[in-house]
Amino acid sequence: MTAVLAADRLSYSYPGSPPVFSELSLEVSQGAALAVLGPNGGGKTTLLRLLCGGLRPTAGQVMLHGRPLGYGRAALSEFRTQVQFVHQDPDDQLFAATVGQDVSFGPLNLGLRPAAVAARVTAALEDMEIVPLVEQPTHLLSFGQRKRVAIAGALALRPVVLILDEPTAGLDPAGTEALLSTLRRLGAGGTTIIASTHDVDFAHRWADDVAIIARGALHSGPADRLLTDSDLLRDASLRPAWGPAVGRVLRAVGGLPPTAPDPRSPEEVLGVEPETRP
Ligand SMILES: Nc1ncnc2c1ncn2[C@@H]1O[C@H](COP(=O)(O)OP(=O)(O)OP(=O)(O)O)[C@@H](O)[C@H]1O
Ligand SMILES: [Mg+2]
Repeated sequence: MTAVLAADRLSYSYPGSPPVFSELSLEVSQGAALAVLGPNGGGKTTLLRLLCGGLRPTAGQVMLHGRPLGYGRAALSEFRTQVQFVHQDPDDQLFAATVGQDVSFGPLNLGLRPAAVAARVTAALEDMEIVPLVEQPTHLLSFGQRKRVAIAGALALRPVVLILDEPTAGLDPAGTEALLSTLRRLGAGGTTIIASTHDVDFAHRWADDVAIIARGALHSGPADRLLTDSDLLRDASLRPAWGPAVGRVLRAVGGLPPTAPDPRSPEEVLGVEPETRP
């Protein structure tokens, strides 16, 4: 099966700087939930910006549905109707005066009818639990609220591939839970999602696959395998995931059957529902 999005031997150097990475390859299959992890300065943001066409590789190519990405204006516009990027810092993304205007910008630009634009904006605001903020000026919102607006703006475009740079950074626990369920629902609907994070537990709860950048090399594979590889995690300056650690202890004391999967959250172990917004 052809990957929906692929990096084929990508190399990248910022002008006048040494290479961030060389000949890095990655295949992302349709509907995948892929977490990208690695230390500060490891190259996560650089990789995501290459994958969304925001940076042009020094060598190698990005492929969408098996076709190489072109970097002309028309090719990039077409690409961005399918692949959406959400910046780590919402202030790099938001520009309209109000939340409603910002989230409707993309759908309006697609030439959709007003009723269709309104439906998409409402759905995206509901997904990010920010419907009451629709009339608010974006510059008066808190960081976490602006972050949700930025994600809603990308969701309103209904992309085939959604790429998020540290989507949970700055969100409160209830905001992270809401994002997690939104990402799961989008994934169940067939959206391919790539998200960078330093949060190994978030990656363990959400991702099927992970790509770990450590010392300029990329290690990719199933989340359950890579997130239990303590040498690799240490190399990438990452903590061990909470779930596999607790699973190991519970199995050792007979608190979990030997073949049961690792717990994904404290709530799962305690048998309670996760905190959501009142
Ligand atoms: N605009 C730039 N110009 C020059 N070098 C840059 C630029 N942006 C990033 N770099 C360098 O590229 C390397 C990778 O940075 P990148 O931002 O991709 O890392 P990251 O994994 O996203 O880190 P973090 O966890 O801090 O977000 C770093 O060494 C960084 O200093
Ligand atoms: Mg980064």
